[in-house]
Amino acid sequence: MKPKLPEQLMFLRNRQAVQKQSDESMNGKICVISGSTSGVGHEAVKRLARAGANIVMVCRNEAKAQTIKEEIEKQYPVFVDYYLADFSDLQQVRQAAAQILLRYPRIDVLINSAGIHSTKKIYNKDGYELVFCVNHLAAFLLTHLLLPRLIESAPSRIIQVNSEGHRFNGLNIHDLAWKKRIYTGLKSYGASKTAQLLTVWELANVLKNTGVTINAMHPGEVKTNIGNNNGKLYRWFLHHVTWRFLKDPVISGEALYYLASAKELDQVTGKFFNLTIEEKPAKHALDPQKQQQVWDLSLQMTGLVQKEL
Ligand SMILES: NC(=O)c1ccc[n+]([C@@H]2O[C@H](COP(=O)([O-])OP(=O)(O)OC[C@H]3O[C@@H](n4cnc5c(N)ncnc54)[C@H](OP(=O)(O)O)[C@@H]3O)[C@@H](O)[C@H]2O)c1
Repeated sequence: MKPKLPEQLMFLRNRQAVQKQSDESMNGKICVISGSTSGVGHEAVKRLARAGANIVMVCRNEAKAQTIKEEIEKQYPVFVDYYLADFSDLQQVRQAAAQILLRYPRIDVLINSAGIHSTKKIYNKDGYELVFCVNHLAAFLLTHLLLPRLIESAPSRIIQVNSEGHRFNGLNIHDLAWKKRIYTGLKSYGASKTAQLLTVWELANVLKNTGVTINAMHPGEVKTNIGNNNGKLYRWFLHHVTWRFLKDPVISGEALYYLASAKELDQVTGKFFNLTIEEKPAKHALDPQKQQQVWDLSLQMTGLVQKEL
């Protein structure tokens, strides 16, 4: 028998656990997926299409999207559509959401998988730190803008691809732009993922009794392109060392499929999963006071509510 681990360390064990699977059909369902041109999101697209789901990709690279569309449509009797939005630009997220709302009278599943890790502090044109914008604000905004359609389509599901990296924390609501602290890639990644988790709990409350569930997940430690935007040395280490220890992202696609389709999750909302195993997030990501503050800030930063003067 394995020794009992404290709850906050269970992620070490869960990563080795036997994962759950679903063979529920997704025939004819419409799934909107960001980050679908690579890694985790791309695996989810393949798995969902294999089960009959139609795919609406939100992505920034048209050539990649077109290739995936052709590959999937050749292989499965589903359609793949795509809308372009760079998640570093919230205006583009708004435009993509508006186009999706015009085109699709139903959305069954929304998966937000777009994400980055940056060793350098970079700002977007609104002055927001890039990782926070791409990993949290853009997904938050897309989710909000598609919410009315998800509610009309209930039962429906939202899944935020989060990370065990939220445990690095780094979230300081008084310094989201890292002007007063030394920036590190891990901390900024942790800040973005912590902020996302805090808003998932709040959104689960907001969506109570609507038939829309929202959960967050860690997609495993998998070999993808994340980090490829960083410098030469980082990339060399990623490709020659880190990748050796990582798993095939096919497990992430399988886990997302489970979370999107499993019957036993029909009513499950406001939870964090390590792949398919429900897990307790780090304490700082469960702070109710921070939850409210991050919620308010996220609404303001995405322009969903005007800042009070
Ligand atoms: N890999 C892991 O071990 C791991 C572990 C924990 C959590 N995650 C999370 O899993 C999610 C997916 O990452 P991944 O590992 O699959 O990495 P990936 O292979 O690099 O895929 C990232 C996806 O996000 C898209 N993306 C990045 N920046 C974007 C932007 N500015 N606008 C629009 N789309 C953008 C990428 O588009 P392009 O194809 O155009 O680059 C790609 O489709 C992320 O949220 C990440 O934090 C990954």
